Amino acid sequence: MPRQVWRQAGLASIPIPRQIGHVLVVSFSTAVSASDTGPMLECLDASERERWNRFQSPRVKGEFLAGKAMARRILGLALGLGARDVRFTHNAKGKPELADGPFAFNLSHSHGWALFALTPSGRIGVDIERVRPVTDLMDLARRYFTPVEVDAIGMADSSAQLDLFYRVWTRKEAFIKAHGLGVAYGLDRVAVSTDQEVKPHFARLGEGEDPLAWSLEHLEPAPGYVGALACDTRLADLMLVHCLDWMD
Ligand SMILES: CC(C)(COP(=O)(O)OP(=O)(O)OC[C@H]1O[C@@H](n2cnc3c(N)ncnc32)[C@H](O)[C@@H]1OP(=O)(O)O)[C@@H](O)C(=O)NCCC(=O)NCCS
Repeated sequence: MPRQVWRQAGLASIPIPRQIGHVLVVSFSTAVSASDTGPMLECLDASERERWNRFQSPRVKGEFLAGKAMARRILGLALGLGARDVRFTHNAKGKPELADGPFAFNLSHSHGWALFALTPSGRIGVDIERVRPVTDLMDLARRYFTPVEVDAIGMADSSAQLDLFYRVWTRKEAFIKAHGLGVAYGLDRVAVSTDQEVKPHFARLGEGEDPLAWSLEHLEPAPGYVGALACDTRLADLMLVHCLDWMD
């Protein structure tokens, strides 16, 4: 498959998707400089600031803060609101959704990098993972993946196994996050394609979900990371943007 092209842009020139089937994915670093911390915290509401205060690990603090600030800034641009005026509700499994406004969005972060996905309507989920060593990779695959997925990983070159493991993982998680039910949905109810040369798709989903009605995309947001995007519409336009500056 051709290498993915991510356009670089500051926040002010980020394209907001306004038509059904149009999706924006923004990739960004979650390393927060001391000078950005104050302005980012200004974007958050009181409960988010409290949550940020409770985190101990600098990495987790950065991921939470950068993710929330970026999500609020982009949603604010989409809705014509200030970042802090964007209001969220959360479903029974904790998925944040807009309290007012038609847009659907989702956020994911892993070890220093994050993805934010936005579309005008429908369900959308995104997942990113830093490709890092997994102890007992095949045991984990057998526990969570379908037999077809396990075989594909088992038959891959040892140098490709880890990357394929994370591709499968992020594809399943992207659907589960779009669905909004959390991992309790069951990773093994979601079967995904594993062929790296062709466009990914869902092979099977849980009851009530038509795999053909869903779009699935493989994402390569930064060296050493893989990701996936799932949405319940036919993807007509996918805009991939690296955001270098969250302020403008
Ligand atoms: C959602 C879930 C799959 C994400 O797992 P993960 O890979 O560790 O995390 P990611 O970085 O990809 O995504 C985290 C982001 O997804 C969003 N999110 C949270 N819950 C979500 C859900 N149920 N579905 C979709 N997205 C969710 C949030 O924006 C979150 O960012 P934040 O923690 O900075 O607020 C996992 O946490 C889960 O299964 N949650 C459900 C837990 C549950 O059942 N809770 C019930 C009581 S609230």
